[in-house]
Amino acid sequence: MVAVAILAAGKGTRMKSRLPKVLHELGGRSLLAHVLKGAATLQPQRQLIIVGYGSDQVRATLAQPDLTFVEQTEQLGTGHAVQQIIPYLQGFEGDVLVLNGDVPLLRPQTLERLLKTHQDHGNAATLLTAQLAEPKGYGRVFCKEGDRAVPHVTQIIEDRDCTPEQRQNRRVNAGIYCFRWADLARALPQLQTDNDQQEYYLTDVVKLMSPVMAVDVADEQEILGINDRLQLAAAAKILQTRIQSTWMSAGVTLIDPHSITIDDTVQIEPDVIIEPQTHLRGQTIIATGSRIGPGSLIENSQIGENVTIQYSVITDSQVQAHTKVGPYAHLRGQVSVGQGCRVGNFVELKNSTLGDRTNVAHLSYLGDTTAGTQVNVGAGTITANYDGVKKHKTVIGDRTKTGSNSVLVAPITIGSDVHIAAGSTLTENVPDQCLVIARARQVLKPGWRLSGTPQQPSIAEPKEPEPRLEPQSEPQSELQAEL
Ligand code: UD1
Ligand code: CA
Repeated sequence: MVAVAILAAGKGTRMKSRLPKVLHELGGRSLLAHVLKGAATLQPQRQLIIVGYGSDQVRATLAQPDLTFVEQTEQLGTGHAVQQIIPYLQGFEGDVLVLNGDVPLLRPQTLERLLKTHQDHGNAATLLTAQLAEPKGYGRVFCKEGDRAVPHVTQIIEDRDCTPEQRQNRRVNAGIYCFRWADLARALPQLQTDNDQQEYYLTDVVKLMSPVMAVDVADEQEILGINDRLQLAAAAKILQTRIQSTWMSAGVTLIDPHSITIDDTVQIEPDVIIEPQTHLRGQTIIATGSRIGPGSLIENSQIGENVTIQYSVITDSQVQAHTKVGPYAHLRGQVSVGQGCRVGNFVELKNSTLGDRTNVAHLSYLGDTTAGTQVNVGAGTITANYDGVKKHKTVIGDRTKTGSNSVLVAPITIGSDVHIAAGSTLTENVPDQCLVIARARQVLKPGWRLSGTPQQPSIAEPKEPEPRLEPQSEPQSELQAEL
């Protein structure tokens, strides 16, 4: 039986942030979510999260039925934090894995190895350690002399409490521990605050237990603790390298990987090509054969097979197979684009659905619109969906063609097989199969000129008297009739 307890009550003073430290984001997940994801592989019976600073926010962000939140109202140290779980694990027989909420890069295999060593040796406690070239800031782990494969730990001393000589020790405490619960529950109440910070240190329990062993991590990057924004950026870089290696090994081409970012939450099928300056975020899925970028941002969106997207921003949307998007398109707020469509240059789509083989190729805005299949939305077509108070819907039937510079004033329904003349402003519904023209007719007045101006007005003579609109060859009344 394994329980997991995650320390997440600290404010994270060095982050200089209003957000609790464990909620800071790293590759699309909070620090705490990374730690939980790692712990999940051990299939723990119980998951306890010790919260304090910003606890409402932490609870709200991670509301999951299988998590128990334990309140640490005052942050009196890591030992004090773990003391808070005692009432929750009364009678628990098994091991408790204690994880720091600010150590997000641990691999599940490392946790499995820690647990296995702990159980194989029947230890009271086993902790994860690393031998660092630059151990500054970490607690130092002191072991018994002798070259055992798994060293026995005698004590842990915080960096600030070390003598200069002790500080030379390069073996550091990762803040990741496995405890036999019965032993830990016995040791916790005995902790004292006789240290530089006057805090209850969890690390002091190792002096009260036996045997305690140390397991060195193979890759020291895994134990990086996030205490400030510099460490957050360093962790982001390490995580990005891992994510990109995973996808490249799985058959995804990344062109100029350093300019690309991919969240930990994204899924990509083989034979996708990601071009430079492209960022894939959130719950995004890219199907095989698609080519994304250069210069694109895709967030919480599903992209079908063989889709091309260039210099575009797509959020909370779906694009189906064989569609081309961009350059310079913006899809947002639940857009669904069918198969074999073209969404082109300088087009914005919001909360709209396009059927298969529909094109919106140039300079258009469609908002709250449902367009059928094989619709051709002409250049500059705009749905006027907002009357200043409410948003209204536009419906466009199959195979309808909107002329260039059409304005569809919503709410409005345009039938199927409709041709809309260029420059039309439609305010009323249009039935199927027709041509609709809703614009002022072109009026041509042969030989007309402004009265009081010479036959061939010259820009060199700007000081002419204010001209009066008057037809040259027709009486005023006739012009009015024409308009
Ligand atoms: C801790 C360890 C140190 C180790 C390092 C690894 C102790 C005394 N020291 O130091 O040996 O090398 O982690 O990263 O444990 N927290 C609470 N309640 C509290 C205090 C802290 O929940 O009262 C939480 C924090 O939110 C954080 C974690 O415990 O997630 C670690 O606390 P932090 O102050 O960062 O400890 P370090 O000084 O890094
Ligand atoms: Ca820390």
